[in-house]
Formats: sequence, structure tokens, C-alpha cells
Amino acid sequence: MKKIAFSVLGLLGLGASVAALLIQLGVPDFSADTPHSPIVYRIIEWAREQSIAHRAAAIAVPTDLADVGRIRRGAGNYEAMCRQCHLAPGTEDSEIRKGLYPPPPNLAKPVIESNSTDARRFWIIKHGVKASGMPAWSKGGMEDGAIWDLTAFLKALPGLSPDEYRQHVETSEGHSHRGMDGQASNQKTEERHEQHHDEKAHAHEDSEQAH
Ligand code: HEC
Repeated sequence: MKKIAFSVLGLLGLGASVAALLIQLGVPDFSADTPHSPIVYRIIEWAREQSIAHRAAAIAVPTDLADVGRIRRGAGNYEAMCRQCHLAPGTEDSEIRKGLYPPPPNLAKPVIESNSTDARRFWIIKHGVKASGMPAWSKGGMEDGAIWDLTAFLKALPGLSPDEYRQHVETSEGHSHRGMDGQASNQKTEERHEQHHDEKAHAHEDSEQAH
């Protein structure tokens, strides 16, 4: 029994030494234009999905994700913060998306994977995904209510035509970090209204600079 335990420890030690040597020699390729081998990709995917599933399990999903107001507010933020990477109806690809690895999924396409639940999406938007291009939007000041608005919009997005998408964006309040939940709990709506306009102006400046 002791012999087996020592052999297993020896093998583990050998494995760790070989891994350390390969890392020291610079063998793992960190470039974004070379994909992982299928086995490495599968292991990372497995670890990521297990990690997110455990952390998102306790999230209570609001019952009003089909609310038109939520969807509209989500549209303005999606256009300002997500479209470049996750595309929109009628947009085939983008420069940034082509260069990212892992590639951001096209969220304007119908979802095929069964694991794409609302709680999982909310968690990913709020916390981001390490070592990928997906940012933790809460770090930039986005409140939970606004993240739920985005989650609501993502449910509607694959069914929209390019014209409907544009209409949603145009009738939204532009780029805002507060969702409906925040609006209901705060009395100072006038202040917020002014801020929305400022942020809208910033978003406009940003998009002009990008061109
Ligand atoms: C700079 C590019 C970039 C931007 C901007 C970005 N994302 Fe992502 N997003 C990613 C990448 C890359 C992934 C895939 C991460 C992975 O698979 O490890 C991802 C994954 C996701 C997922 C999980 C999709 C799935 O079903 O697996 C959701 C949901 C998502 N992003 C929503 C958003 C929203 C909403 C915004 C805007 C507020 C946004 N993202 C902005 C790059 C981006």
C-alpha cells in the first residue's frame, strides 16, 4: 500500500517538474491567434462552466424579464457596451471580435446551448470571465438593475430584425448604469435624468472618437 502511495506521489512530482520545465522554456503559446489544443480547451471550458454554475446557483431571477421597459433600457446599453464584441442583427462580424480568443459568442443568434440561463448570463455580465475579453461590468459602476435589463434584452435580441434593433436602441435612454430597480428606489429622478443626458453625450463622444 505504501509502495503504491509513493509511486503515485513520484509520478505527480515528475508531472509537475515536466510542466514547470515546459513553462520555464516558454513552450505554452499565449498568442490570441493560436487556438488551444482541443484537450486544453475542454479542460478550461469544464472549469469555467462548473465555476459559474456553482456561483450563479443562488441568484434569484426577476420575474419581469419580458417587460418592454427593461428590454428597451437594455438595448441602449447593449449598443454602447456590447455590440462591438457580441454583434447585432444584420452585423456579420467586427474587427475586435475577429482578434479575440476565445471568440465572443454572437448573442444576436438563437441560443443552442441549454446552459445559457438568465442567472448564468447575469453572473457573467456582472463578474466577467477571467483571461477572456469579457469585462466585469459591475467594476465600471453598472448596477444590478441595469444588468438585469441587459439580461432581459439578450432574451429578445435573437428575434429582432435589424430595423427593430435600431428602433429599440433609438427609443432607449442611451447608455445608463442604472436599471429599473435603481429607478424605483431612488426619488431624485431629475438628477438622474440630467446624468443620463451627460452619459448619453459621453457615449456619443466615445463612438465618434472610435471612428
Ligand atoms: C471586448 C469584448 C467584449 C465586450 C465589450 C463584451 N463581451 Fe461579453 N464576452 C466576451 C467574450 C470573449 C466572451 C466569452 C468568454 C469565454 O467563453 O470565456 C463573452 C461572454 C459573454 C456572455 C456569455 C455567453 C454564453 O452564453 O456563453 C454573455 C452573456 C456576455 N458576454 C454578455 C455581454 C454583455 C451584455 C456585454 C455588454 C454589457 C458584453 N458581453 C461585452 C467579450 C466581450
